[in-house]
Amino acid sequence: MVDLCIYNISALYTMDPSLSSPDNPLGKISNAAIAFDKHKVVFVGSSTDAPTARSRLDAQQSILMPGLVDCHTHTLYGGSRSTEFAARLAGASYAEILENGGGIHSTVNATRNSSETTLMNAFKERLTQMIHKGVTTVEVKGGYGLSTESEARVHRLIKTHGLPISTVGTFLAHTIPVEWQSDRAGFVENIIHEQLPACMEWIVAADVYCDRGAFTLDESIQILEAAKNMGLKIRAHAEQVSHTGIAAAAARLGATTVDHLERCTEEDISVLSECGTVATILPGAQLYLKDTPPPTALLREAGVPMAVATDLNPGSSPIHDLWTCATLSCLVQGLTIPEAILGITRHAGRALGFPHLGWLGSGSSSDCILLRPPPGEPPILESVIQHIGAKKIVMVAKNARIMSLSHHLRSGFQEG
Ligand code: NIG
Ligand code: FE
Repeated sequence: MVDLCIYNISALYTMDPSLSSPDNPLGKISNAAIAFDKHKVVFVGSSTDAPTARSRLDAQQSILMPGLVDCHTHTLYGGSRSTEFAARLAGASYAEILENGGGIHSTVNATRNSSETTLMNAFKERLTQMIHKGVTTVEVKGGYGLSTESEARVHRLIKTHGLPISTVGTFLAHTIPVEWQSDRAGFVENIIHEQLPACMEWIVAADVYCDRGAFTLDESIQILEAAKNMGLKIRAHAEQVSHTGIAAAAARLGATTVDHLERCTEEDISVLSECGTVATILPGAQLYLKDTPPPTALLREAGVPMAVATDLNPGSSPIHDLWTCATLSCLVQGLTIPEAILGITRHAGRALGFPHLGWLGSGSSSDCILLRPPPGEPPILESVIQHIGAKKIVMVAKNARIMSLSHHLRSGFQEG
């Protein structure tokens, strides 16, 4: 007898590559069940073959899929940049605001000056909203501290929220703070020898923003090489506002993902394809900055896996909903529906360097969600992704434990 079985699922989207085919790219099984034992997936298949279990949940014909993975966010920050939104609507550019001491700098000031309680309360509220939207793993970057003390505090908070969602901490060399602007080389040294070591306990990856108003290509490579030598996974904010060459350079250094890519070239793409690097695209930033899309048709042609993330931050992408980003990736970036769904599940896990995330099968993580399509729609992910704002997550299971269950399904839950 196994620990938990969820049965009577109308469509179980496994995202398992061994079950996918051109006709069934998401490894969908109809009239399905899934079972877990000792926090592992032990059965995925037809509902009629489901094993007996101590705890049983009747899914009442809802859709089951892996818990979502938001693989690029800046979810922990202080302050607000709503006035900057108004300035940008009136014509000011993101890079100009940053170069004039606003943008990221204003969030750095607010984050440094916020109490731990204030930062943690807002962070936990954002995470709770994500859980209710079906996200079970979220990458959270630092980069609004920009000093040893402030970065160490931010990264400790990122890992000590206590909520049923995995947070993957990433150090971000975000920009050069005002007090270091006359000694950029000194700041790079400070990152490498003080900030990164002070955060090591809390982080698994390092990221760098290589662009106008932030780090140069040489500085970025120096930081990523040092991080890699410390055993961290590496990644980059790449080719967003200007083309710098960081996408290809980071891929060659072994980056798991390079992100944004609005200005990446065909040559960059062939390097990503050679190196097996994921391209993470961020429709929220593209939309809010009124930018052009990354070259997704070329990425597809080159076989580069694409992930989709919210890039949740208070300036360039104040979007809290990964589902909305998946829909926008189809509408404004040219992804197909299966690409967008893999982008918020299995490919997002791969972008984080955690290939067990974002699919369901033997050896996968045990995070899954049940959802209902918008009212009157069939129980398929095509309906879920077509509509913005109308889907309903009715259950979230983290590591094979049911963490939230809507009242519709409570009568069908027998807890053993
Ligand atoms: O991914 N481009 C740089 N970093 C973030 C923006 C952060 C901010 O504006 O606060 C991004 O878009
Ligand atoms: Fe970002």
